[in-house]
Amino acid sequence: MISEAADRRLNTISRHLIVTNEDEGSNGVISSSITSSGGDSVFANVVRAPEDPILGVTVAYNKDPSPVKLNLGVGAYRTEEGKPLVLNVVRKAEMLLVNDRSRVKEYLPIVGLADFNKLSAQLILGADSPAIRDNRVTTVQCLSGTGSLRVGGEFLAKHYYQRTIYIPNPTWGNHTKIFALAGLSVKTYRYYDPVTRGLNIQGLLEDLGSAPSGSIVLLHACAHNPTGVDPTVEQWEQIRRLIRSKKLLPFFDSAYQGFASGSLDGDAQSVRMFVGDGGECFIAQSYAKNMGLYGERVGALSIVCGSADVASRVESQLKLVIRPMYSNPPIHGPSIVATILKDRNLYNEWTLELKAMADRIITMRKQLFDALRARGTPGDWSHIIKQIGMFTFTGLNTKQVNFMTKEYHIYMTSDGRISMAGLSSRTVPHLADAIHAAVTTVV
Ligand SMILES: Cc1ncc(COP(=O)(O)O)c(C=O)c1O
Repeated sequence: MISEAADRRLNTISRHLIVTNEDEGSNGVISSSITSSGGDSVFANVVRAPEDPILGVTVAYNKDPSPVKLNLGVGAYRTEEGKPLVLNVVRKAEMLLVNDRSRVKEYLPIVGLADFNKLSAQLILGADSPAIRDNRVTTVQCLSGTGSLRVGGEFLAKHYYQRTIYIPNPTWGNHTKIFALAGLSVKTYRYYDPVTRGLNIQGLLEDLGSAPSGSIVLLHACAHNPTGVDPTVEQWEQIRRLIRSKKLLPFFDSAYQGFASGSLDGDAQSVRMFVGDGGECFIAQSYAKNMGLYGERVGALSIVCGSADVASRVESQLKLVIRPMYSNPPIHGPSIVATILKDRNLYNEWTLELKAMADRIITMRKQLFDALRARGTPGDWSHIIKQIGMFTFTGLNTKQVNFMTKEYHIYMTSDGRISMAGLSSRTVPHLADAIHAAVTTVV
């Protein structure tokens, strides 16, 4: 039995913990077996967590009754009509799977579907990759890009001598949490220059140049999120030379292969440069955007190792990471991907649909740029057409974003990032009006 005085003391301590935690801005989940007096749940002390900064935008959007509301927060492709898109080729693959009576729903192995793993490694590294030929690559199916990053992070925290990962500033909001919770220490390197709205290559090279030898470096393979700013081939080469000379470990996040340029090979170029030099690296792949398989959670983690023997030992340890986490991955999504990747006709059809999505996004960039020019909106908006991939990092500040949400019902993340994939010819004028009003009335 806890005495009343002890009970009061413990409640004070747990309240203090909650306040401290809120001050630090963390999610604030405090586990305690003690309820505050009068509470009717053992969880009475659980603090309400803030909404996810990206997914929370959609929550706010859904609550808005305005007929002109526009969600440019979440990175999901929409058609010209503003509707989610299921690729035709995905529907075809699903029909083939449904009609195949020999298919069963047994558990997959811990590492996932073998065909899917092999084809995924080929997609990102190239079918003729020497690393694949030499069996130096181990690939495991994971829960989309996020799960692949997490499994890679957990493996590194357990088996790699350096526990620090450098991520770009800024980066996709989930990176910090994924790697910190995996047990790595997260630091940032300079990436974006707000003045030029381009790459801060000098800052990047300086920061990676002073990182301790062996540090892990997270690189966006293409279509950097949120900035839409990618290094040029020459800059990639500079980064590669530095990373190799400092013996840093590259960890590629490839969430947009095919989305940046419309070419699967073109968007894999950065990764292939690093694998081409014979060095080791990690690659997290997602099929959320490029096959529109968002909710199916299909992805892969590939680890390119120095030898076939190391690769097979690494794989044996990856199984020990995965087994207690989710046992084994789902079967439907990777079956769709494997069906498409191994059939030449379906593969070709996919590349066309992918290119059409990429092209529509590029058209939206052009239309928005033209609309701002037509309105005489103050500022240089050429970054809208220079940036690459799903997002434009507009340069709008939080106050301007809040203004656009309040007055124009346009939803985006507070850093001014907009998803170009959520725009259409119909909605561009509304967005351009809102941006014009924001920059001319809100400082
Ligand atoms: C840079 C980056 N990495 C990884 C992901 C992971 O996405 P998913 O887990 O849906 O594949 C995203 C999604 O927005 C992203 O933008």
